[in-house]
Amino acid sequence: MGPWMPGSSSSVVIRRLQQHDLHLYRAIRTEALATEPDAFGETLEAFAGRTEEELRDWFTRHVGARDAVILVKERDGVPVGMCGCGLYHLDPRDGYLWGMFVSPSARRQGVGAALLREAVAFLRPLGVRRMRARVTASNRGAVEFYRRAGFAVGPPEERLREGSEIPVHAIELDLRDLGRAGARGA
Ligand SMILES: CC(C)(COP(=O)(O)OP(=O)(O)OC[C@H]1O[C@@H](n2cnc3c(N)ncnc32)[C@H](O)[C@@H]1OP(=O)(O)O)[C@@H](O)C(=O)NCCC(=O)NCCS
Repeated sequence: MGPWMPGSSSSVVIRRLQQHDLHLYRAIRTEALATEPDAFGETLEAFAGRTEEELRDWFTRHVGARDAVILVKERDGVPVGMCGCGLYHLDPRDGYLWGMFVSPSARRQGVGAALLREAVAFLRPLGVRRMRARVTASNRGAVEFYRRAGFAVGPPEERLREGSEIPVHAIELDLRDLGRAGARGA
């Protein structure tokens, strides 16, 4: 099977977080950092240590930007998946993807693939040709997820965060290789 083939994900509805959704972001990001501490550069301690004002400032700037978005999948008003993406300012032909997480009970149902498709759909009109991200080398499930989506996976190089021994892969998806809908085969 080629990339973007899960097929089950085409009906998954994804929403962009708005200014008033900070509580939803806090809930899903806390779950992500608590459940998968080795998957993300940020730690739960660092996230929980931000003051309400700091977090609100960051969130307001982020979801209010023209060139960045936080996407969620909700079930009964509760977020079960998220990712963020935006324009990479050092080179606006590049976009970045961060914070990809699906709650354990919602995995392998196409939510991650749907979030990725939506991120591609957001970045493409901004002129982005390449989506870049990082994934922990030991996170075999996520590496396979990205490979299946068509990402090229570089050698494990950098470390997850300062003081960590965990290597990460730089990964990238060439958006020009994808079909017009950004979701080949789905
Ligand atoms: C990686 C992650 C986001 C995938 O989300 P998901 O909703 O389960 O993914 P999907 O259901 O859309 O999977 C699409 C395809 O990717 C591949 N895939 C997904 N998870 C996989 C796994 N654990 N092992 C192998 N292949 C996997 C499969 O080919 C899958 O299609 P299939 O289920 O029809 O076989 C999710 O497992 C997760 O949140 N993991 C923990 C956090 C994390 O590692 N985030 C990445 C940080 S860089």
